Formats: sequence, C-alpha cells, structure tokens
Amino acid sequence: MPKQKTKVVKKKIVKIKTDKTKSRAESSAPSAGGKKAYSLLRGMHDILPKEEKYWKSAYHTAENLAEHFQFGRLETPILEEAGLFVRSIGKGTDVVDKEMYIFEDRDSNKVALRPEDTASVVRAYIMHGMWNMVQPVKMWYWGPMFRYDRPQAGRFRQFNQVGFEILGDADPVQDAELILIAHNFYKDLGLPVEIYINSIGVPEERQKYKTALVEYYRSKRSYLCDDCKQRLNKNPLRLLDCKQERCQPVKEEAPQIISWLEEESKNHFMKVLEYLDELAVPYVLKPTLVRGLDYYTRTVFEVYPVMGETEDATLGSQTALGGGGRYDLLVEEMGGKPAPAVGFSLGIERSVTAVKQYFDTKQLKFPVQQVDAFMAQLGDQARRRALKTMNELRASGLKIAYNFSKGSLKGQLEMANSLQVPYALILGQKEVQDGTIIIRDMESGVQEIVDQKKLENLLKKKLSRFDGERK
Ligand code: HAM
Repeated sequence: MPKQKTKVVKKKIVKIKTDKTKSRAESSAPSAGGKKAYSLLRGMHDILPKEEKYWKSAYHTAENLAEHFQFGRLETPILEEAGLFVRSIGKGTDVVDKEMYIFEDRDSNKVALRPEDTASVVRAYIMHGMWNMVQPVKMWYWGPMFRYDRPQAGRFRQFNQVGFEILGDADPVQDAELILIAHNFYKDLGLPVEIYINSIGVPEERQKYKTALVEYYRSKRSYLCDDCKQRLNKNPLRLLDCKQERCQPVKEEAPQIISWLEEESKNHFMKVLEYLDELAVPYVLKPTLVRGLDYYTRTVFEVYPVMGETEDATLGSQTALGGGGRYDLLVEEMGGKPAPAVGFSLGIERSVTAVKQYFDTKQLKFPVQQVDAFMAQLGDQARRRALKTMNELRASGLKIAYNFSKGSLKGQLEMANSLQVPYALILGQKEVQDGTIIIRDMESGVQEIVDQKKLENLLKKKLSRFDGERK
C-alpha cells in the first residue's frame, strides 16, 4: 500500500459558507400590494440568472468530460417506484428512513421523488438489457434530486447532481478513471480539491469488522454522544461519521476496516491507489470513510474543496462536494444478472458555492463564456438594421450582445465594456444609408468604417487573433 500519501493533508479543507438564515427568510416573501405573495417551500431554492455562468460552466465541463471519456447520457424519470430506492439504498440509512419524498399517487402506488440516481441507473441497465451490450457500459446524468433533509448550509431539499457510472467491469482501473474524472471536473473549473479514499471491503469482511467495531465501542459507551449510542445498535459503521467533539478520541482509536480486508479486496484497493499515483491525482487515505448508502463494496471516496495554508477554514465540519464508490452487488440485488459497477455523483449547488467562494477569496475573475462583439445602434432605422445584422452574425456562429433599451451610445458602450467584449459594432443613421458599419476596438478605442457585406469575414478575422485564449 503506497504509504507516503497518508500524510499528504496539511492543507485546510474549506467549510462552504452559505447563508444559514436563508431558508427561513425565503418563506416570507415581501408582499407587493394586498395579496399574498408566494414564496418557496422550505429547503427549495431558485437558481438566478446571476448564477448562470457558474452553472453553465459546470454543465459544459461535465459534458466535455463525458464526451472525452465516452460516457452516454442517461435521463431517468424524477418519479420512480419507492421500493427501488428502499431496496438499493437500504433501510436503516438516513436517506431512506428520514429523507425520502414518498407518497401515494392516484392509483395508490407508492412512489418517490428520486433522492439519487444510481438506483435508477441500475434499474435502466437491467430493464433495457444493457448487459447484452459491450461491457462496460458508461453512463452519465445531470438533474434534480430530492431529500427531505433539515435545510442548512449546503443542504437543500431539491438539489442537482451530476454523476458518472460504469457498469459491467470489476477492474480497479475503472475506479481510478472515475476518480480522475471527478478530479478533472474541479480542475477544469479552477477549484483545487482533494479526494478522500477508503476500501470498505465486501459484506463478509465488513460483517467481521462491524463485530470488532461494536465490541470496541461498547467498551467506550460512557464516552459517547447519544446519537452514537443509538448507532451502536442500529448502524455501527455510521459511528465513524460522528462529528461530535466528545466522540473524536474514541473514533481515533477505533479499529480500522483495512485490517479486516482479505487478499482480494486489499489488492483491488492497492491497484486503485497505484493508478491514482500514476495519474498524479492527489488523494488522502481516510480509514473512517464509510459513506451513507448501503450499496457500496470495496472502494469508496469523497471529494472536498481545498484552500491554501492561510485560509481560515474549519476542519471537522467539512461538506463533501461529491462522493461515490464501487457497488459490485447492486445490479444482482436489484434483479439483474450479476454485474460489478462503480460510480460517483457531485452536488452542483455545493460545487458552485465552493467555486464562487474560492474565486472570491483569491480575488480571481471567473472565466465566463465570452461574447464576440456588442451591437450598438442609434435611431429607429439603425435599430432595425442592427437586429437583422445581429441575426446574420449569430447564424454564422458569432456571439453578439446588445441592449436596445439603452438609447445613448455612451450607455451602450459602457455595457459593452462591462461585458469585456473585444469589439463593438456601431450602426447610426449615416451607416445605414451608406451600407457601412463601424467596428470599434474596445481596448484601443480605434474605430474602422467597413462595408456591411464584409463585416462577418472581417470580424472573424479580427477575432482569430484570440484563438485559444477565449472560451
Ligand atoms: P451522496 O454522497 O449521497 O451520493 O451525494 C453526492 C453529493 O450530492 C453530495 O456530496 C452532495 O454534494 C450532494 N448532496 C447530497 N445531498 C444533498 C442535499 N441535501 N443538498 C445539497 N446537496 C446534496 C450519492 O448520491 C450516490 N448516488 C453517489 C454514487 C454514484 N455512488 C455511486 N455512484
């Protein structure tokens, strides 16, 4: 087992700061006039236009990675039979016992809003006979999930996940490929992250480990918090998740699952780590990482944002951006032919918050999808011509911004400036009559009058000097 990595983490993990009062404030929208103004349900949130650049970037990054690593997009319904989640995620887990949006439809079927997508991916794999396809089958998804959780920082009742799953292959190289994708997702977004990793073995190994863990914790019962006393009987692995101060010394001395792994599980884990070393993906061995869903076997991992040494961040109450692992037994458990599998999901709300926070603290500008030019116009005739010209430029693949409600040229150029466009295109009465248009270099202020017919080619030629620099 590569040992040097255990001491990697000296950096601090960022605690994602979000407005804890928000969910309450949201439920009392100001009323404009005498009528009741509707607001959001608790734990729900709007994604506003000002957030769009981050969401777009996250989506494009995921889509590019999916294309590069050849994952096919799978879209499953938001509503599924409740039993699908109960059987896959497991009774006794928080997600199933406390957080499911579960209800009866008009035909008295028990249905649930999906709390995650892995169960649905497995259902789809079985239902569409995907085991007959060339294995492994690689799929990705993006969409809303629902958990009736207590709303707090980074925790919503409706949130979005992007996920990648590989079904039909037990090779540790698949685990490493997925961890690489998760790592690359944040790297491409400009956020440094660290991967926490562990192996929780197969059920027989885990059973023996649980017995040892319970025995150890029973001997320390009087030092434990009330929750842990309950976990001891209900779900002993969750003891390792406890964040309460008083339980930490007990946790630190607890037996580690790695000592209960047999040769095969140990080898699998070692290979994953070797691949990660090879790929230069930084990771931290985390013997207490067990994850909160029942279906995992062997590799489990979580992703955390990282800041530099100087940042004031709180260790201990970190929030995972995402997580995943192997689930070799789930396809069979859900009624399919046995097929080993591995996957992960990332929370988009938490990721966007962390990216924003990182860029703000470092005083960096988040790179936005850039606009090629701004169309400014003066006068009614010019506005009509501008609309037409803009439409033609759009059709040729250029991104053109405008604001026709601003009358003055000054106001329009100010907007062009704020959008950081390299060129403004200016149309006035005179230009409409002459069949010309002004191209203004926004950096130098130099203006050039050109024939409208030549505009597209000329603009593209000018923009080509930025090739590779602009998104
Ligand atoms: P999970 O750890 O339950 O795993 O969720 C993954 C991520 O979804 C979390 O790390 C977090 O960023 C986000 N998330 C979860 N609950 C909330 C919430 N209430 N509010 C905001 N964000 C949340 C899974 O869902 C597994 N399906 C991962 C997986 C895929 N394992 C194998 N394949």
